[in-house]
Amino acid sequence: MRIKSLLLSLLLFLSISFRTFADEGMWLPILLQSLNEKEMQDMGFRLTAEDIYSINHGSMKDAVVLFGGGCTAEIVSDQGLILTNHHCGYGSIQSHSSVEFDYLTDGFWAMSKEQELSNPGLKATILVRMEDVTAQILKHITPGMTETQRQEAIKKASSSIESEAVKDTHYSAQVKSFYYGNEFYLMVYEVFEDVRLVGAPPSSIGKFGGDTDNWMWPRHTGDFSVFRIYANKDNEPAAYSKSNVPYKPKYSFPISLKGVKEDDFTFVFGYPGTTEHFTVSEGVKNITEEENPIAIGLRRMRMDVMEKYMKTDPAIRIQYASKLAGVANYWKKMIGESLGIRQWNGINRKKAFENDFMETLHKNPAAMEKYGSLLATMNETYSKLEPYSLAFIYFYEGAYSIEAFRYAYGFRTYVDECIADPSSDKLPSMREKLQTSADGFFKNYHQEIDAEIAALILPQLRNMGNSFLPEWWTKLDSKYAGDWQKATDYIYSSSVFVNADNVKKFLSMKPKKVKKVIASDPIYQLANGFFDSYFDKISPGRDLYGAELDSLYRIYVAALRELKVSDRFYPDANSTLRVAYGKVKGFEAADAVYYKYYTTADGILTKEDPGIADYYVDPKLKQMVQNKDYGRYADVDGTLHTGFIATNHTTGGNSGSPVLNADGQLIGINFDRVWQGTMSDLMFDPGKCRNVSLDIRYCLWVIDKYAGAGYLIDEMKIVK
Ligand code: ARG
Ligand code: GLU
Repeated sequence: MRIKSLLLSLLLFLSISFRTFADEGMWLPILLQSLNEKEMQDMGFRLTAEDIYSINHGSMKDAVVLFGGGCTAEIVSDQGLILTNHHCGYGSIQSHSSVEFDYLTDGFWAMSKEQELSNPGLKATILVRMEDVTAQILKHITPGMTETQRQEAIKKASSSIESEAVKDTHYSAQVKSFYYGNEFYLMVYEVFEDVRLVGAPPSSIGKFGGDTDNWMWPRHTGDFSVFRIYANKDNEPAAYSKSNVPYKPKYSFPISLKGVKEDDFTFVFGYPGTTEHFTVSEGVKNITEEENPIAIGLRRMRMDVMEKYMKTDPAIRIQYASKLAGVANYWKKMIGESLGIRQWNGINRKKAFENDFMETLHKNPAAMEKYGSLLATMNETYSKLEPYSLAFIYFYEGAYSIEAFRYAYGFRTYVDECIADPSSDKLPSMREKLQTSADGFFKNYHQEIDAEIAALILPQLRNMGNSFLPEWWTKLDSKYAGDWQKATDYIYSSSVFVNADNVKKFLSMKPKKVKKVIASDPIYQLANGFFDSYFDKISPGRDLYGAELDSLYRIYVAALRELKVSDRFYPDANSTLRVAYGKVKGFEAADAVYYKYYTTADGILTKEDPGIADYYVDPKLKQMVQNKDYGRYADVDGTLHTGFIATNHTTGGNSGSPVLNADGQLIGINFDRVWQGTMSDLMFDPGKCRNVSLDIRYCLWVIDKYAGAGYLIDEMKIVK
């Protein structure tokens, strides 16, 4: 009893201190005027919401680009020149690299437009407009509808709004759900398909600090790369063609060389991917204490193997560079997130908030009647969901992460067709496609790495639970008495899907033979077993309880708004264009540790360490820093600032976003968050959550002085 009351008073104490903070939030540009403009101006913003988003004239939103599928970029010249992060351009830079022309290691600079490199598949998307279509959608919803009927009605209404919006244009449109389906907004986009690589620093600058520094501060990474958008002669999107011309944007950002001071107003304009800040305590616990630890362990296994092989052979290093970076990035993010929630007592803070909510209900019988059982039902649903979500983590971070498994599954429709109809006329074109994809797959595949990873991961999959494990897994487990090293040796020596020659031979077999070969191919059988388990068992469970939870969250979020339990309402990130604003600020990272808000080039030399590859310093850069050859890019203090932190609320997808000052001038490129604040996708702690930006002056200095590509600077509008 005593413990309970102690806990209660602790919770009560926390609940008094629980509120949202001025820096928290990712705001919709069309709502800035009504919701944020005044606060932004009070914090120092010298322009208006109309300067950020306008449909009447060119505004900042016309210069913000969704880069590829998951990054942001900004237009910085009237010839379609864009800046994004090095880690966002990484896949493209890698695709043009070989052992002889190693742009990852040495960097790449097109010295004229003719030298710029095309990147098939890379898209640059610009928002034309957004519009609140909530009323148009909700008028199709009636109170008696089941969840499925509701979803169907939304889908139908959305697609008619979308097609109406793009009629007679080359635009594309999407209706997105906000606040778990309480609101809906239409996004109309123009999608450019000819995006060329213009420049990238060597990885020793663009990825300086590598995974050692990733998600951390202090940071000295020159994390930028330069691309250009091309259009046809009517300035419209077109597939790559020699006759395309640089895109003429409606707006491009001026760049400030003034730098920033502590407490300066800043904002970030970009495409944040996903946040889940309404998540209740039970959900936060599941993510940070159960799911993250499993994923972290499985990722570490893969990384160890990749790193080991990458050290032995430069060709493998290039093959696996992008894959490793991808695995390592969220591996570390998850560690930081779980740690941050623990250190900030996040789960109890959420509980305290839920107590506040219940307290509010107790004072309001009508609301109690409506919402009283909501939290309990959510918790019950979470426990029903749990076995499925854990099995999913093992599937996604385990079985699906084994490259040959993922690859072999791609043959499923072909194999099925061979069996169903050996004389099918679809087979030749299917073969052709599979042959092309084989070339792509094996270019970056190293069998020993994959087999070594499989030997580590396959035994872990036992934890999925018997009901989710495919027959072939169980069969091999008992045949090899749990010795998965032996089992893996067998698997990789008896499969078609581990080298290009085998696959080529396989594709020339008669359908009858295909059927026979496949029946005993362990990778094909295991992979398909895991995918069947995913589609037939895991996914239906996740969908069912996930949808139940979503609809409970829809009611919960509506209730929070109705009862004004939160004083600051903003929607979770969902890959739509948002503005986050805050101030340049240092922070207390730990007891007795205070971090300043900026770093300088001198710090690069301090970090240099021949024993740590991530801290290799390029000799030319070193010389230039030692000479303090900074020119107009130096700060008033005489140093070259490399990065700064601020309280802007950002997440994955904000990489490459323009970081702007009170006058809307570009002062930095967003590229990360600090370790202590990576939990901001779930909870934002204003004391610790900071976005990390590259100081634009370091970026320009590298382009101009280091790379000698000053002609690019001439395209930009530089303001003193
Ligand atoms: N953490 C940053 C982001 O989420 C940078 C990632 C760069 N990748 C890496 N493995 N260092 O994108
Ligand atoms: N590096 C991240 C990205 O790729 C941004 C960092 C974050 O998650 O805040 O978008």
